[in-house]
Order: sequence, then C-alpha cells, then structure tokens
Amino acid sequence: MVAKIKVVVNGAYGKMGRTAVQGILTDPQLELVGAVGKTRGIGLDAGEAAGRAAVGVVIEDLLGECLQRVKPHVVVDFTNPAVVKDNIRTILQFGAHAVVGTTGLTGDDISPLQEWSREAGKNVLVAPNFALGAVLMLELARRTAPFFPSMEIIEAHNPFKADAPSGTAINTAEIMGAVREGESEDSDVLSCQEKIPGVRGGELGGIRIHSIRLPGFVAHQQIIFGGLGQTLTLRHDSISRESFIPGILLAVKKIAEIKGVTYGFENLLDL
Ligand SMILES: NC(=O)c1ccc[n+]([C@@H]2O[C@H](COP(=O)([O-])OP(=O)(O)OC[C@H]3O[C@@H](n4cnc5c(N)ncnc54)[C@H](OP(=O)(O)O)[C@@H]3O)[C@@H](O)[C@H]2O)c1
Repeated sequence: MVAKIKVVVNGAYGKMGRTAVQGILTDPQLELVGAVGKTRGIGLDAGEAAGRAAVGVVIEDLLGECLQRVKPHVVVDFTNPAVVKDNIRTILQFGAHAVVGTTGLTGDDISPLQEWSREAGKNVLVAPNFALGAVLMLELARRTAPFFPSMEIIEAHNPFKADAPSGTAINTAEIMGAVREGESEDSDVLSCQEKIPGVRGGELGGIRIHSIRLPGFVAHQQIIFGGLGQTLTLRHDSISRESFIPGILLAVKKIAEIKGVTYGFENLLDL
C-alpha cells in the first residue's frame, strides 16, 4: 500500500483553512496530521471545526512546535498576507513542502523564498487561486490580450478579505501586461477626468483594476476587453469555497515533484 501524504493545515480555523481540512479528510491518499491557528479555534478538533466528525487533530497555536512533533510532508497555508512569508520560512526550516494559498505575496517576496527553498531542499507553490475555472480564465486572458488595445479587470470578494485588489487580479494584470501589443491604451490617458478620486479604480501597468467588497460574494472576476465597436468579457465565479478543494488536493499531491518555488496553480496543469 502507498503511504499517505501527511498534511498540516496552517490557518485551520479560517474560512479557507476549514475548506482545506474538509477536502483533505475526504481524500484517501492524504492524512491530516496537524492543524494550526492563531487565536480563534485553538483547542477545537479540526474535523469538527470544518463541520465534519472529530478526527483527533486539535488546532494548536505554534506552527514550529506542531511541525517538529508531527513531521508532515506538506503544509497548506491559508493565513494572512502579513505573516505568510514567516510561515513559509518556518515550514521549510522544519523540512516540509509548502502549498501556499494565502494571497498578497509580491515579486519582491518571492526571491528570498527561492533561497530558503534551495537551502531546505523543499518546494514551495504560491497559488493565489486554486479554482480551475479561474486558472483557465487566466490562460484565456493571456491568449486574448494581444488582440485588444484595452482591457479592465473587475473583481469582487467578501468584505473581510484582507487585501485589495485580489492576488488573482494582480496576476491577471501582470500576465496581460506581458503579452499585450504596444503601449497601454488606458482610456484615462485619452480623456477621462475623475470627479470622485479613485472612481476609475487602481492601475497596474496601464490596466485598470476595480475591487468590489460586499457580503454575499465569494471570489469573482471579470476581464473586459475593448476594441473597435466590440467588447469581449471573460468571467469566472467561485460561488462556494468548495471550488478551491480539487486544486488544493492536486497541489498537495504534486508539490514533491515541482522543484523550487512555483508561482501559480496553472503551472501544475498541462494547459
Ligand atoms: N488561493 C486561493 O485559491 C484562495 C482562495 C480564497 C482565499 N485565499 C486567501 O487565503 C487567505 C485566508 O483567507 P480566509 O478567507 O480563509 O481568511 P480568514 O477566514 O481570516 O482565515 C485566516 C486564518 O488564519 C489565521 N492566522 C492568522 N495569522 C496566523 C498565524 N500567524 N498562524 C496561524 N494562523 C494564523 C487566522 O486566525 P485568527 O482568526 O485567530 O486571527 C484565521 O483563522 C487570504 O490571504 C485569502 O486572500 C486564497
């Protein structure tokens, strides 16, 4: 029989951490061996916290101590942009691969990860979006951007999301900016005067990004391409957090094979 992959979830009482726990508990190839939080949920059974039967894994509050004791193969991190870099360092120092769903890491944050990963001989996947549909949307955006002069992104999430714009929106703008033809045709450059500051959204590489934060949303994004006499809209909606589970499970199973630091779930797919 093939040995199970031992997994710890960091941020196990958060919305995404509980979703990850749910997925891990249903997969026969994976074993949940630890669960870590910060303040909420400490002392609770991770299975019960995720709405399932008790599994005998109690949510604890010190990542390093947990990792030293349970020695997982993989740690899944869904915590907070402010702490995720330290978490990755700890995960690598304790000899585990890191599957990082926490958003907010910038290009500057990624380079030290490469050194830590090399020193530890363990791998890191940073994936701002684990939803298959969202990753396909990025691929379609990459293919469409060279054909349109202008494009804008509208993303919507729940009001408790710690960062704006979303990691996926930044990733989308970077991908489209790298492949679009010629200079930016940001319409503001042409004529538009903002009567309310910020009403035209933020801007990254000449691409406008608009962030909506309202109750009821999970994770949504539209990319609208504008051309002569026509528009084209790509749209993806994660209507429940379950949309992220297949991607998280695939990443946990493949992380040992993808050497070094990888940015983007799409790199695990044969697109
Ligand atoms: N990659 C994807 O597909 C995807 C999808 C959705 C969301 N996200 C991202 O995932 C992250 C978490 O989102 P969420 O909605 O689950 O947020 P959340 O509900 O606020 O959960 C975050 C959890 O992390 C815990 N935490 C904070 N600092 C910690 C630390 N130092 N060590 C251990 N646990 C710590 C928090 O504990 P306390 O409550 O005690 O502070 C909380 O339980 C965000 O960055 C979000 O943007 C990614």
